[in-house]
Amino acid sequence: MEQAALSSLAAATNSEELEAWHQDYLGRKGKVTVFMRSIGSLPAEERPQAGQAGNQLRLLLEERHTARQTEIREVELARALVEETIDVTLPGRRPWTGGLHPITLTLRRMYAIFAEMGFQVYRSREVESDLYNFELLNMPPEHPARDMWDTFYVSDSVVLRTHTSPGQMRAMRDYCPEPVRVIVPGKCYRYEQVTARSEFMFHQVEGLAIGTDITLADLKGVMATFARRMFGPERQMRFRASYFPFTEPSVEVDMDCIICGGEGCRVCKHTGWVEIAGAGMVHPTVLRNGGYDPEQFSGFAFGMGPERIAMILNDVDDIRYFYGNDLRFLRQFGNL
Ligand code: PHE
Repeated sequence: MEQAALSSLAAATNSEELEAWHQDYLGRKGKVTVFMRSIGSLPAEERPQAGQAGNQLRLLLEERHTARQTEIREVELARALVEETIDVTLPGRRPWTGGLHPITLTLRRMYAIFAEMGFQVYRSREVESDLYNFELLNMPPEHPARDMWDTFYVSDSVVLRTHTSPGQMRAMRDYCPEPVRVIVPGKCYRYEQVTARSEFMFHQVEGLAIGTDITLADLKGVMATFARRMFGPERQMRFRASYFPFTEPSVEVDMDCIICGGEGCRVCKHTGWVEIAGAGMVHPTVLRNGGYDPEQFSGFAFGMGPERIAMILNDVDDIRYFYGNDLRFLRQFGNL
């Protein structure tokens, strides 16, 4: 048994095999243990000798086992040190902490540009009364122009704002009789089919300037300055006559396409121009509703779509990407 035990011990080359060997000879049901237990059934005169031999064998095997264990551990440690080395000089993997949404980034750039022209950010509510969203903006109940905005109604007289223009009225009533120069950014909602070009939730940035000598030329200057700061100094502007109940005259503000420079491409739908704002001179009725005497005060207002602007700037051809929560899209913008 001693010979067999020692040769199979020598054959054990790793911790698992060594452990199995220990079970096999020295464990509770091991060969040596079984032998020791069997001594009691030997004739009395053979027992002392057998007991001594068994004890010696056990001591020997324990001793050899310990020695072999030390050898194997050294080998295993040496291997682990080679195979499991960690290069502590490698740079760590930076966890992704999130980033700013492309529309947030666009809004911040817009705030900075308008701040330089003296406009401060004025916050207005997303859930509005019919009074502010329509009526005070020169659209009494049943006014056909209300059809320009497909509206989510919260109740008969409360809506999700369809545009940021009610913020004009709140700013005027806040500042009156002082002059006003604010932008009103925020979410707007329209009960519309979602398509590549329109979402039911989107942002607007409203602009409003009220003072004593404000003319359409000031609006043109502000629009051109904004476009050139946002899209490049070579931008050309175009105003087209339009209609909004709360401005008179009303215009649509176009700029030459930044992708093709006016040649015609997919982004500008081959017109060479992209619309960046609806605007106009604040209607006398609206001034009056805001608390200003239209004989003394005048002003301009505009409404812009940051999603449109972000799409033009980043060559994004479908507005739904912004709110689709696809990280592959979102990660391409402003990692913090
Ligand atoms: N509120 C208008 C819209 O949503 C845009 C606009 C704002 C037009 C201010 C004129 C003046 O279409």
